[in-house]
Amino acid sequence: MAIRKILTEKETALRTVCRPVTEFDARLWQLLDDMADTLHKADGVGLAAPQVGVLRRLFIMDLGDGVVEAINPRLVDPQGVQEDVEGCLSCPGEYGITRRPMTVTLVAQDRHGKEFTLTGSELLARCICHENDHLDGVLFKEHVVRMLGPGEI
Ligand code: NI
Repeated sequence: MAIRKILTEKETALRTVCRPVTEFDARLWQLLDDMADTLHKADGVGLAAPQVGVLRRLFIMDLGDGVVEAINPRLVDPQGVQEDVEGCLSCPGEYGITRRPMTVTLVAQDRHGKEFTLTGSELLARCICHENDHLDGVLFKEHVVRMLGPGEI
């Protein structure tokens, strides 16, 4: 277990399309464990592998009820629209109102390669979309309707 450095948006890793995970081995599990430590220390709700410099398609989330690990994720069946405040550990101090689906279903593999689905609404849907975007080099600012000023944060 170790804390990894969270890269900021200036790094090219944050603008890169990541490759699929092919090996479900001890190295992957170490990465996932390190990412969980890193996410909790940073007090965030989601962290994608490129944010710690690993250009592979995986992310983790923890909305307060345990870590969800999503490997080779894809999103299906987006429903509705929501607008709410969003930020990113790679863009410290910046927040904006984003437009996202109200509900979305995540299809992904777990750390052993077993496929699962998870349908989320509201904050969970935002988090799924935000983290999945990181795997294609997309930051939340591309979904921002309006950035918040210093007095609004
Ligand atoms: Ni982010």
